[in-house]
Amino acid sequence: MQKRLTIIATSVAASMAVLIACNQQPAAAGNSVDTSKTATAAMPAFNGFESQEKWGEHLVIITGCNDCHTPKKMGPNGPEPDMSLMLSGHPAQMPPPPIDQKEAAKKGIAVTQDLTAWVGAWGITYAVNLTPDSTGLGAWTEEQFSKAIREGKWMGLENTRPVMPPMPWQDFKNFTDDEVKAIFAYLKSIPAIHNIVPQAVLAPPPPVK
Ligand code: HEC
Repeated sequence: MQKRLTIIATSVAASMAVLIACNQQPAAAGNSVDTSKTATAAMPAFNGFESQEKWGEHLVIITGCNDCHTPKKMGPNGPEPDMSLMLSGHPAQMPPPPIDQKEAAKKGIAVTQDLTAWVGAWGITYAVNLTPDSTGLGAWTEEQFSKAIREGKWMGLENTRPVMPPMPWQDFKNFTDDEVKAIFAYLKSIPAIHNIVPQAVLAPPPPVK
């Protein structure tokens, strides 16, 4: 008898678990397909990460900010991000690729081996310092940051020049408010690195044909 009861109890527990799993399924599926901004309201805090900064770190890694904003060092498989200089932008002392801008416009684009300085039809652009130093995002507000990465406004201010290639802000305009906040919180928490990135040299707009 004792044994039977245990079996019943176990099978009740098992079917409860199945019921719970079934109940949860539609919600989970809904979350994964609905990428609208309102979907974030139903998500757990920090999208399941232990803190806002951890979520931000995850977003920075998967969206490739380090590819352009972190200088590289040579590793066994070629250049790799030098994490001691994480997100500090184009190194102040490094020259841009020795290529004439007109030539670059005709032939394609040229880039330093560490992917921090780019020459193209638009001129020369340098990946900026994203660390919380005064030479980076130290004095930036979250609103400025959001305008810069989602609307492509230089310094995140109105009436400034557009943020130029290859900064992929046209893709980043799809970041949700919460994602932008998480990235900014993370960038404010990383080590500050002093590095004055050179000013971009912008080409005049192409002539109208
Ligand atoms: C393919 C290279 C590339 C990637 C990837 C990239 N950036 Fe950039 N980013 C640049 C370059 C180059 C500039 C400078 C553009 C200019 O001078 O107009 C820039 C500019 C910026 C600016 C504007 C700075 C200002 O003063 O207005 C911010 C903010 C920024 N990047 C943040 C990010 C973040 C955050 C990520 C990842 C989510 C990222 N970038 C990914 C290359 C890149």
